Amino acid sequence: MWPYFERLRKEDPVHYCNDSQYGPYWSVTRFKDIMSVETNHKVFSSASRSGGITIMDNNAAASLPMFIAMDPPKHDVQRKTVTPIVAPENLAKLEGLIRQRTQNALDALPVGETFNWVERVSINLTAQMLATLFGFPFEDRTKLTHWSDVTTCELGTCGVETEEQRIKEIQECGAYMTKLFNERANSDPQPDLLSMLAHSENTRNMSPEEFMGNMVLLIVGGNDTTRNSMSGGLLALNENPEEYRKLCADPTLIPSMVSEIIRWQTPLAHMRRTALEDFELGGKQIKKGDKVVMWYVSGNRDGDEIENADRFIIDRANPRHHLSFGFGIHRCVGNRLAEMQLRVLWEETLKRWPKPGQIEVVGEPRRVFSTFVKGFEALPVRINA
Ligand code: HEM
Repeated sequence: MWPYFERLRKEDPVHYCNDSQYGPYWSVTRFKDIMSVETNHKVFSSASRSGGITIMDNNAAASLPMFIAMDPPKHDVQRKTVTPIVAPENLAKLEGLIRQRTQNALDALPVGETFNWVERVSINLTAQMLATLFGFPFEDRTKLTHWSDVTTCELGTCGVETEEQRIKEIQECGAYMTKLFNERANSDPQPDLLSMLAHSENTRNMSPEEFMGNMVLLIVGGNDTTRNSMSGGLLALNENPEEYRKLCADPTLIPSMVSEIIRWQTPLAHMRRTALEDFELGGKQIKKGDKVVMWYVSGNRDGDEIENADRFIIDRANPRHHLSFGFGIHRCVGNRLAEMQLRVLWEETLKRWPKPGQIEVVGEPRRVFSTFVKGFEALPVRINA
């Protein structure tokens, strides 16, 4: 895809595609134009009634009411309720537990044998993290990963063949979460997400659909993205041995490397908006009702905005200057949490395996088949003693 995006940025940065399997849509590929769309939510709607937030018009799960697919004022009210879980003081409380679970996962890895990093590290750790966030029964945590996969997958690629099956699975998720929600509502407030939702005036009386929508949002939001950054980071280091050496020589680079990994990976390749009125962007006339796709994956490689954008460099001067978390009113709620998880992972990893190339990618990665989730199903890895 890279040469196509490069050409689009150069020759037609706001490009109309009038025929595709997703219907007609605009591709916005330059950093600055993406920012113009992101910061103008009055014109560019995220609402599911307009079509939702992905190039694919709402699938059955994504059309549930969730605040990522709402416009103000409702969006703002619901977002405010979940924000405290990721406030700095709460993150500081979570860090100890995240570190302990990361240590356990790493200590259980085999040395000198090939294994799938995606399954043993990335999925394992993000499922544990989600369980912690929700106060979800730890022994059932793989259900969270399953529900997340079912929501975002292309039909036929994740054990779900039809939209009906997808709905059924999501309903099971809803029933499980409702039970937990009711338990929390009837006990004292706790510092987990479900308890916060159950005790906040703004969300206590959500409709069942709204409750399910927001559950799905938080499960998916905190799952695929962080998971794929955990895998993508290791791959990037292996593909850029000079950067791997730099990291091992100076582990204080971990925080800036984490941001670079998130830019480089761009775990969500795009977000979509729908124009609520006619609007001129980059000299093109977008019409009311048009679908507008912001290709973060392209904006993050825009050399006019980011120096040496097509290189993975772990000690950039301004590493958080990227589009992977979006921007404007929908900017990712979990961005600091994700960065913390990745930082802890790399701190603990380097303590155990401090030499460059010691965690070696030994085969081709298998990628997720999706235009939305940019990630990995498998990454064969061997830890060299
Ligand atoms: C929104 C990416 C981790 C929860 C978003 C958006 C993006 C994104 C692109 C939409 C931004 C927009 O439309 O402008 C990422 C990436 C992550 C990550 C790349 C990891 C590397 C997380 C985590 C959580 C989370 C760990 C959960 C706690 C959310 C929520 C929203 C959101 C709730 C909706 C915000 C709103 O509409 O106001 N994320 N995310 N994300 N993310 Fe994340």
